[in-house]
Amino acid sequence: MKLTIFAATGGIGRQALEQAVAAGHDVTAVVRNPQKLSPGVRAVRADLAAPDPAALESAVGGADAVLSGLGPRSASDAGIAWQGTRAIVRAMKATETGAYRTAYGQNLRRGLFISRADVAHLMLRALRQPETLHRTIGIAY
Ligand SMILES: NC(=O)c1ccc[n+]([C@@H]2O[C@H](COP(=O)([O-])OP(=O)(O)OC[C@H]3O[C@@H](n4cnc5c(N)ncnc54)[C@H](OP(=O)(O)O)[C@@H]3O)[C@@H](O)[C@H]2O)c1
Repeated sequence: MKLTIFAATGGIGRQALEQAVAAGHDVTAVVRNPQKLSPGVRAVRADLAAPDPAALESAVGGADAVLSGLGPRSASDAGIAWQGTRAIVRAMKATETGAYRTAYGQNLRRGLFISRADVAHLMLRALRQPETLHRTIGIAY
């Protein structure tokens, strides 16, 4: 999958990055200090205390999933979890990343239009989700 991992230099984020790369995912790491990353990792620099929306949008746009290990490293980072997560979600909404809804065995309300690209994306993603086998899936924005 194409993954964007925020705070990929933290305790959880570093683990997520290493495990995702080892599993063969295509990873973009979003960090405030790219020098802390191993060489070869695709990085976007962003301080989530004062994020540039365009940088976040370029980092999440086109991702299949967005992961975050963001948290306060010290007292000076207080409030960063909700503040940064809000900025991440805004960037995802702006780029319509992960924007569709799904339901098993039923259609979704106001689900009249869906792009063919997103239907195809869901079909391919479902191949890796055993819980979707033998089930009908509704998809809508
Ligand atoms: N519920 C649970 O059981 C559980 C268990 C463990 C952790 N957690 C929570 O999960 C979160 C992460 O835990 P952790 O142990 O991985 O924390 P951590 O090692 O302190 O990592 C925090 C990460 O957030 C980044 N960060 C902080 N402020 C930032 C900012 N302004 N801009 C960009 N990045 C920023 C840090 O970047 P730098 O590397 O540049 O400092 C670091 O990568 C914490 O909120 C923790 O409370 C919950």
